[in-house]
Amino acid sequence: MSDPALTQGVPSEPGPPFQTLVELEKMARLLAMMLDAGRSVISDHQTLFDDPEKGDKGFTPDVFERQLLETFRSRAGTDLEESRSARIPTGAKAVLKVLVAASKLVVAEAQSEINRQGVGHKGFVPAVFGARTASRFAALTGIRLKQTALAPRNPSNAPDSFEQAVLREFADPSYPREKVISEITATSGALRLMLPLYATRKCLDCHGEPKGEPDRTGHPREGFQLGQSAGAISVFIPVRQ
Ligand code: HEC
Repeated sequence: MSDPALTQGVPSEPGPPFQTLVELEKMARLLAMMLDAGRSVISDHQTLFDDPEKGDKGFTPDVFERQLLETFRSRAGTDLEESRSARIPTGAKAVLKVLVAASKLVVAEAQSEINRQGVGHKGFVPAVFGARTASRFAALTGIRLKQTALAPRNPSNAPDSFEQAVLREFADPSYPREKVISEITATSGALRLMLPLYATRKCLDCHGEPKGEPDRTGHPREGFQLGQSAGAISVFIPVRQ
C-alpha cells in the first residue's frame, strides 16, 4: 500500500533528513486515512441524517468519535490510543489527535442541522463534513487536507496541476488499489500526498447512475460504477527548509 515515489523530486540542496521525510510521508498518509474514515462514518449514516420523520438521531459527537477511531483502526491496522504502537511516529500521533478533535467538533456543531425534523436532505454529506473538518484542522496545524476530483461538483475542490496529474493516474483502471502518491518539491516547499477514493454503494446513491439525473442534493449524478476511482484526498504539509 505504501512504497511511495518519495525519492522522486527530493531536492538536492540540504533539506530535512531522509528519515524525517519518510515520517512526514507516513503522517500524511495516516491523516488522509483519518479524514477518509470520518467521511465513511458520515456516509454510513446519510440515510439516517436525511430521514425527515426522525428528530434526534442519536449521532452524538461521542458516538461519532468511537466509530471514527474504530474505522481508522481497522483500516490503518493500528490504534491511535495504543501508546506503544511503533507504527505511528510520535509527531504523527499528535496531529492525528488534533484531526480527531477537529472532526468531532464539526459533528458537535452540526447537531441541530442533523437533528432537524421535517426536512429530508440537509446537505451534511461526507464532502461537507470533510471540508469543514479540513478548514478547522488547517487553522490549528497549518496542514492542508482537500477532497478533490477530476470533475468536481464544488469549484473550491478543483485540482491543481499536481492533483490533476495524480487523479489521472488513479483513474487508470490498471492503477494499483489504494496506492498513495507523494512528492516533495523545493518549489512548493511541501510534502504532498494523495490517497485515492473509490465509489462504494453508498456513494453511488449520489454519484452513480443514471448519469446526469439529479441526486437528492440536486446535483447531476456522475454515473460512477461500483469500485471506480471517485476522487482523492490531497494532503499538503509545509516543510521548513
Ligand atoms: C448524499 C449525496 C452524496 C453521497 C452519499 C456522497 N457524496 Fe460525494 N459529494 C456530494 C456533494 C453534494 C458534493 C459537493 C459538496 C460541496 O458542495 O462541497 C460531493 C463532493 C464529493 C467530492 C469532492 C469533489 C467534488 O466533487 O466537489 C468527492 C471526492 C466525493 N464527493 C466523493 C464521494 C465518495 C467517495 C462518496 C462515498 C463514500 C461520496 N462522495 C458520497 C454528494 C454525495
